[in-house]
Amino acid sequence: MAKALITSALPYINGVKHLGNLAGSLLPADIHARYRRQIGDETLFICATDEHGTPAELAAAEAGVEVADYCRWQHAAQAEIYRRLNLSFDHFGRTSSPRNHALTQHFFHCLDARGFIAERVLQQVYSPADGRFLPDRYIIGTCPYCDFDRARGDQCENCTRPLDPTDLITPRSALSGSTALEIRPTRHLFLRQSALVGALEDWLASRKGWPPLVTSIARKWLDEGLADRCITRDLAWGVPVPKPGFEGKVFYVWFDAPIGYIAATQDCSDADPAERDWRDWWQADDVGYTQFLGKDNVPFHAVSFPCTLLGSGEPWKTVDIIKGVNWLTYEGGKFSTSGGRGVFLDEALDLLPADYWRWWLAANAPESHDTDFSFERFATDVNNDLADTFGNLVNRILTFLANRYGGIVPDGGTAAESEAHLAATLQQLLDGLRVHQDTCSLRKATAEVRAIWRLANGYLAEQAPWTSLAADPERTAVVVRTSINLLGVAATVAWPFIPAAAATVLTALGRPSDLPAWPRSAADALNEIPAGQVVALLPVLFAKLAPEWVEANRLRFSGAGG
Ligand code: 2FM
Ligand code: ZN
Repeated sequence: MAKALITSALPYINGVKHLGNLAGSLLPADIHARYRRQIGDETLFICATDEHGTPAELAAAEAGVEVADYCRWQHAAQAEIYRRLNLSFDHFGRTSSPRNHALTQHFFHCLDARGFIAERVLQQVYSPADGRFLPDRYIIGTCPYCDFDRARGDQCENCTRPLDPTDLITPRSALSGSTALEIRPTRHLFLRQSALVGALEDWLASRKGWPPLVTSIARKWLDEGLADRCITRDLAWGVPVPKPGFEGKVFYVWFDAPIGYIAATQDCSDADPAERDWRDWWQADDVGYTQFLGKDNVPFHAVSFPCTLLGSGEPWKTVDIIKGVNWLTYEGGKFSTSGGRGVFLDEALDLLPADYWRWWLAANAPESHDTDFSFERFATDVNNDLADTFGNLVNRILTFLANRYGGIVPDGGTAAESEAHLAATLQQLLDGLRVHQDTCSLRKATAEVRAIWRLANGYLAEQAPWTSLAADPERTAVVVRTSINLLGVAATVAWPFIPAAAATVLTALGRPSDLPAWPRSAADALNEIPAGQVVALLPVLFAKLAPEWVEANRLRFSGAGG
């Protein structure tokens, strides 16, 4: 049994996330975690809210509440949304936890003791109009690398390059808009990444099977010469810097956030020490660690966080596979929190149950290129895949069983040539699906699930039990029993993607639905549910989405004030 440690990028605390955040990290991580549990791997799936830094501080100020209270409420709100989305975290923690404060300070002490921390005086942006040093994200200007005119002082959203605010051309305050910015001296601490290049190169060379997108972003960074990274900020909210002379300063949010993966695991094991020890995951050799994140997060996970871990000199688990994905765009443009453009997760769940969104986002995962969400494409895929293919399959089989057999699986004689052929085809599809699930290729995996649903519909159409019943009840019973079992397989393989609907079907079939095990073989799987099993009839699982629904929602979420 393998051990699978899985983390999703930690969502920022400020506000409800949108479909793009779900598609980029939370959902793929959940699908992979569910699959790994299905095949019997010992799995730990960790996430948390990323709570430090300016956005939280400012959002709290705007709401007129203490930042600690703001974060507590927002954490609870996000946790509830992820529960409704059926994200199966083993722990959903918080980077503001005491464990993360202590661990972040611990890493700092290790790095400092080993000579990887340097003190420098920085000339930083001070805004007299705002009465404060401006944190990086709150200075905007033109990117010196790609000319994007709304680059933030911490990172250019357009070319993904990390920036320092002083790199920006024509900077202005994102708070007041003031361009009357001054440069004032302030002391800060740097992580000497340049001294860790050798260790990092060796480590990168030992990583196998990363997607080309991830490798190329990591390589670009190293090939351009790894700069030392400022890891402190003039802010009040964050992990305090434990060094004399740095009172009143905190660590940069990107220093403490990834450490939060470990701290959240510690919180998880604190909650149930008899069940789990965090050291078995973070200080062990027998763990395979996969991270899921969007492409803007790659540099921090492929370079900065590994520098922290390697530089500490302690035996920490580092990531084996980084599954980085491209962007989900919205109706041809960007999602915009401030402009109200795009669908946010609370709104999505108010429109339709989680499975609709989960299926579409997995089937259209932005893996090798950006993917555009539009209500029209969404409705087309939902109608074809969920309503007409899976929903129809469930309905046809269960209705026929209820009407003709009183909902009890019939016995019949032995299976024939067509069932052997069915099992062989099913085995091929299961093998293909397993490969795509192993490599976290969601588009290919959903295509394979869809093919299994189609195989089942095709078998039913070909065998047409409704026409053979009178003339050959024995043979018809075999077909019906096989179809019921085939439905069980169809729901089992769909479970990581549409867990609620799959569980409903499995429960109706009298099968375990909390964690449906991966079929041992197609032949076995077609004989799991025995004759005599009572099967419940189900209401329609997936409603069809009408053109009027599409148009109304396209207008509502266009950000055009509609
Ligand atoms: O980009 C983001 O949404 C960040 N909050 C991701 C942090 S991932 C981890 F390193 F904490
Ligand atoms: Zn740029």
